[in-house]
Amino acid sequence: MPTGRGLQERVVVVAGLVKVGIFAYLNHQVPRTRKEIFETLVNGLKRLEYRGYDSAGIAVDGPNKMMTDLNSKAIALIKKKGKVKALDEALYKQDTLDLDEVLCTHFGIAHTRWATHGEPNPVNSHPHRSDKNNEFVVIHNGIITNYKELKKYLSSKGYEFESETDTEVIPKLTKYIHDNRESDNLSFSTLVERVIQELEGAFALVFKSRHYPGEAVAARRGSPLLIGVRSEFELSTEQIPIQYNGALFKGDVKEKNSHNRPECPNSVGDGKAVEYYFASDASAIIEHTNKVLYLEDDDIAAVIGGRLSIHRLNRQAGEDPVRAIQTLKMELQQIMKGNFEAFMQKEIFEQPESVFNTMRGRICFDTSCVVLGGLKDHLKEIKRCRRLILIGCGTSFHAAVATRQILEELTELPVMVELASDFLDRNTPVFRDDVCFFISQSGETADTLMALRYCKDQGALTAGITNTVGSSISRETDCGVHINAGPEIGVASTKAYTSQFVALVMFGLMISEDRISLQKRRLEIMEGLRVLPELIKEVLTLDGKIKAIADELYDQKSLLVMGRGFNYATCLEGALKIKEITYMHSEGILAGELKHGPLALIDKDMPVIMIIMKDACYTKCQNALQQVTARSGRPIILCCQDDEDIMKNAYKTIELPHTVDCLQGILSVIPLQLLSFHLAVLRGYDVDCPRNLAKSVTVE
Ligand code: AGP
Repeated sequence: MPTGRGLQERVVVVAGLVKVGIFAYLNHQVPRTRKEIFETLVNGLKRLEYRGYDSAGIAVDGPNKMMTDLNSKAIALIKKKGKVKALDEALYKQDTLDLDEVLCTHFGIAHTRWATHGEPNPVNSHPHRSDKNNEFVVIHNGIITNYKELKKYLSSKGYEFESETDTEVIPKLTKYIHDNRESDNLSFSTLVERVIQELEGAFALVFKSRHYPGEAVAARRGSPLLIGVRSEFELSTEQIPIQYNGALFKGDVKEKNSHNRPECPNSVGDGKAVEYYFASDASAIIEHTNKVLYLEDDDIAAVIGGRLSIHRLNRQAGEDPVRAIQTLKMELQQIMKGNFEAFMQKEIFEQPESVFNTMRGRICFDTSCVVLGGLKDHLKEIKRCRRLILIGCGTSFHAAVATRQILEELTELPVMVELASDFLDRNTPVFRDDVCFFISQSGETADTLMALRYCKDQGALTAGITNTVGSSISRETDCGVHINAGPEIGVASTKAYTSQFVALVMFGLMISEDRISLQKRRLEIMEGLRVLPELIKEVLTLDGKIKAIADELYDQKSLLVMGRGFNYATCLEGALKIKEITYMHSEGILAGELKHGPLALIDKDMPVIMIIMKDACYTKCQNALQQVTARSGRPIILCCQDDEDIMKNAYKTIELPHTVDCLQGILSVIPLQLLSFHLAVLRGYDVDCPRNLAKSVTVE
């Protein structure tokens, strides 16, 4: 083979992944009709739609027209460009598949693809297959960076490729290794172990094969994958010991056994009636079961005879030899749209509760005490540090910008804010006595994850601020805070931003607890946090007024958002929201920079939103306002409720309740979230799935 990297050389994932949706369903001794299986698979894909995709496909047992050999062990592949709905319709048009046939044990796999290698079309869609008889079919999230070499090699051996994708090398390689196996005893999981040793890049993979009916194998490296377990019977164990096959590739005696693993005592399922759900994230699983297991990089999970076991090639020093089945607390209704038009709208309106949940159990307003359990053991180290570096992308970066000033004030430390991509491009110097925060809603953003690994290599203490339990960032950081905002489905981040904001302010409060000189300030902020959910509710009542402003603005080409100080981050974040879902040009401008260039844009036709709150920058913002009105600009101003002076000079105002300066950005961003939502609806766009964007950007 041309590459042969081997699992021993743990891959540091350099290539990112495009976030797609993996969903697979195995029913063991649980009778299901093919129609029910279709429904489960399609529903799983629908739950993952928010991640962004342009085509979808599934593989189930049964013959279909895409194959040459129609027999009982056949695997049918059905793939469509476009929405999951189109795939769903296509499933019922398959005249070779009996929808009412009852399948007691069955494994079906499903996938939503976002094109990276080759245009969106059925052939490039997943599942990909090994050959025209669909001996092996595979779904993949990630990028195989050595696919060209593998393709060349396999082509030279007579394997024919039909798609333009990197993924197709995986089923072909699986068939190649299977075709050249040394004995008929080769187990499915051992086969997959051999396959993934040859792969470079990043992947979450699920394999199905007609040679191993009713069996499932899944593996991951650098891309999330979890398994849900549902059974009427009590699970034999909730702690699955890892099986190691270290000897397998060194030619010693274990090799013989590993070709056909004996029924494994270290497994879940006992062979009784059980169902397994494989998915890229928990939102596709939670309606079936809250018992889940997160795979780690280089884990291989296999279900054979209804038993789930986890294998790894070699044991690394210090690694956890057990995978625990966890009980998720997420509720299905948390990920449903309810009466809202879009998930984004629902998530904007959830902010009184989501910020409350970020604080719940962590702030004691009576004692003015903040305890962030995930950071408290590292507090001494953090207090001794030389510098804080806050790293993120997009909205998460804006949460860093929004809280930088208050963190500088409360920690009395230099605070750097960094866009992860730029931070990496610069090979930014990082030291052992730095503390680096990685802010990420998904916890999977490739740039942020790579920045984390970079900082770890430099010996800095790493802390995650994430919304996704079990995500790569939450697992790979030394410590951190889970923001508890609840699942965020809309691609445009809203409630995660305000919760990240609150979490970072709480960190500042926790670290400054023993600073006498800061007590007055701390109490003022605590009081602000205490009433924050109520103030957010008040801001949300402005929705009608904001919709009326959107009615006036929706056919504009451009929209500027201006402010400074604690509200500068709101300008950046508001402009990002407008760009990403309305496709209008929008720019967040630091008001202090106005006269250094942006003023040239101002005339009576350029829509400008200005944020002018009663804080230390108030007079400076008033100056900026005069400069705008002097050029016939007609500013829409976000200001404090009682600010008559500002109201006189505004074309329109959005009056906000006043809060402590460092929290004002939480209130001022909400009108801009609402405005972008209404603008997108009026312009006729899909609010939750904006073009060209995915929920989690796992591409470099
Ligand atoms: C926000 O509306 C965007 N979708 C995007 O900027 C996002 O915040 C960014 O990709 C970072 O994602 P993360 O928080 O999941 O790391």
